[in-house]
Formats: sequence, C-alpha cells, structure tokens
Amino acid sequence: MTASAQTTTPAATPQQDAGVDQAQIDQGKATFAQKCSHCHGFNMVNAGTIAPDLRRFPDDRERFFTTVKLGKNGRMPPWGDLLNDDQIACLWAYISSRKDR
Ligand code: HEC
Repeated sequence: MTASAQTTTPAATPQQDAGVDQAQIDQGKATFAQKCSHCHGFNMVNAGTIAPDLRRFPDDRERFFTTVKLGKNGRMPPWGDLLNDDQIACLWAYISSRKDR
C-alpha cells in the first residue's frame, strides 16, 4: 500500500499548542453521556456513587486507556469490546478538557 500524500493542513494553524481539537472533545462528551455518565455523573459531576470523580483523574493517558479497556476491580466495566481506540481517545480528550476548569 502506498501512502498518499495528504497535505490538508492549512498554512496557518491558529492554535498550535492545542493538543486536542474541539471535535474530539465534543465526540467524547457524547460518548461519555451515553456510556459513562450513569456511573460517573452527568458532565463528570459525581452523583455520589462509588465511581470516582473523573475531573480528579491524574494526567495519565495510558492508565486511562488501560482502565477503560480492561475495567477495574470488577466495578468499572471493561469497554475494550465496545469502544475503539478512537472513541477512547475522544473520551480522554473530553476528560482532560474538564480538568483545568
Ligand atoms: C457501571 C458503572 C460504571 C460505568 C458505566 C463506567 N464506570 Fe468508570 N468506574 C466505575 C467504578 C466503580 C470505578 C472505580 C473502580 C475502582 O477503583 O475500584 C471506575 C473507575 C474509572 C476510572 C478510574 C480508573 C483508575 O485507574 O483509577 C476511569 C478513568 C473510568 N472509570 C472511566 C470510565 C469511562 C470513560 C466510562 C465510559 C466508557 C466509564 N468509566 C463507565 C464505574 C463505572
């Protein structure tokens, strides 16, 4: 397979330090609302369940991926079969975006 030269990047990039884009965050937010919010709380505001407040989750992308894919302690369900890496990356973008606020 030959790599096609796709140079769609515009000459001027407005926000170079933005590690994630808004589209990812929006998609992550939608997925979160569907799959995660009944345990982790709408908008990540914890509803007082045993699920942790994800706004406090450390800046650890690898741990996030591992937990989401494999679950944790039999209480956090595994999502590896239901969500692909792209969707998990969007979730991470969303969750990271909430932290500084
Ligand atoms: C059935 C309830 C439930 C659902 C649905 C759920 N979680 Fe959790 N989650 C938990 C519980 C409970 C824990 C705490 C597990 C523990 O530490 O024993 C947890 C922990 C976590 C952690 C912290 C793990 C760590 O390493 O400390 C992350 C991140 C997380 N969940 C993300 C998600 C995401 C993203 C979704 C949606 C795809 C989701 N969860 C859906 C119940 C849930």
